[in-house]
Amino acid sequence: MSAYITLQKALQSNPRTWLVTGLAGFIGSNLLEKLLKLNQRVVGLDNFATGRSDNFKQVQALVSAEQWARFRFIEGSIEDAATCQRACEGVDLVLHQAALGSVPRSMEAPLLCHAANVTGFINMLDAARLAKVQRFVYASSSAVYGDHPGLPKVEAEIGLPLSPYAASKRIDEVYADSFALAYGFESIGLRYFNVFGPRQDPNGAYAAVIPKWLDAMIRNECIQINGDGETSRDFCFVDNIVQANLLAATTQNTGAPNQAYNIAVGERTTLNELFQVLQDGLRKLNPSLPQQKPHYGPERAGDVRHSHADISKAKRLLGYEPALRVGEGLNLAMEWYCANTR
Ligand SMILES: NC(=O)c1ccc[n+]([C@@H]2O[C@H](COP(=O)([O-])OP(=O)(O)OC[C@H]3O[C@@H](n4cnc5c(N)ncnc54)[C@H](O)[C@@H]3O)[C@@H](O)[C@H]2O)c1
Repeated sequence: MSAYITLQKALQSNPRTWLVTGLAGFIGSNLLEKLLKLNQRVVGLDNFATGRSDNFKQVQALVSAEQWARFRFIEGSIEDAATCQRACEGVDLVLHQAALGSVPRSMEAPLLCHAANVTGFINMLDAARLAKVQRFVYASSSAVYGDHPGLPKVEAEIGLPLSPYAASKRIDEVYADSFALAYGFESIGLRYFNVFGPRQDPNGAYAAVIPKWLDAMIRNECIQINGDGETSRDFCFVDNIVQANLLAATTQNTGAPNQAYNIAVGERTTLNELFQVLQDGLRKLNPSLPQQKPHYGPERAGDVRHSHADISKAKRLLGYEPALRVGEGLNLAMEWYCANTR
């Protein structure tokens, strides 16, 4: 039996209290859905900077009234230390997701990125320490690999950060390491590679490529590829990210805490390949959609050329085993966007 199946059974028979930050957002709302379905108690903290209350409505519709009653929400910012302390009261485990994502956003507004991703991070880390929570799991990013050319990416070999966003996630890891050494406070960093799935926002200048393209293709709008389309990413369906968070929060492996892990599928897909898979998949679901060709534009500043994860460390120490490969995840995402794009 996989570590994840065993864990889900254990959680159902022994429910815990989880604090999820950023849970009005994409990954946070998927964590909320899974935890409530496992009959856990969930406290949420979000300021709706990029998250949406509609995500709560969607989760509410997917769980029972009894499960929904186990969720308590605090509207507030992680930039306020007192709010973070209030949110951590009585909590067993923290899954810290709140941050301002997107490399281009950080290039335009580095101070906002720092305030949410670094000041907000240390506020949460310290609040969790003071509240003596059992473990603090946090969202890091593949962006920390920066200019290191090695592929696939292994956790110990990182380069210089190419953007304020990358720097903020690297600083978070350094703070987490320092809290382990200075206070013996346990944390685990998860370096997510490009995540996709239901409830990822397709709108705005900083939308991620998969929801943005799906939304545009469904509306028959043209697609722009930044660069020549041979840029590649290790796209990861959100269920795999949920799995990694739950395993990291509860692992009994004493060698696991106080380090960072790649969380991805370990497959590389170019933007040209992605375009074709999405177009073919959507046209299967809706044959009236026309065939289109992408427009090619300039490369985006701050972007890395290739991203591909070695996930053996997370497999070995956390028992992580991605349940859905890229194609399977894309099929689920396409169904969701077809049903939810208005
Ligand atoms: N989506 C990806 O591909 C990806 C990849 C690597 C890392 N990450 C990280 O995963 C985490 C979740 O990302 P996501 O894709 O769900 O993004 P998202 O924007 O959908 O969710 C982030 C949430 O954090 C909240 N938030 C932002 N600033 C806040 C603040 N000051 N106080 C309280 N809440 C605040 C937002 O309102 C939002 O609900 C982030 O830390 C992000 O950096 C995401």
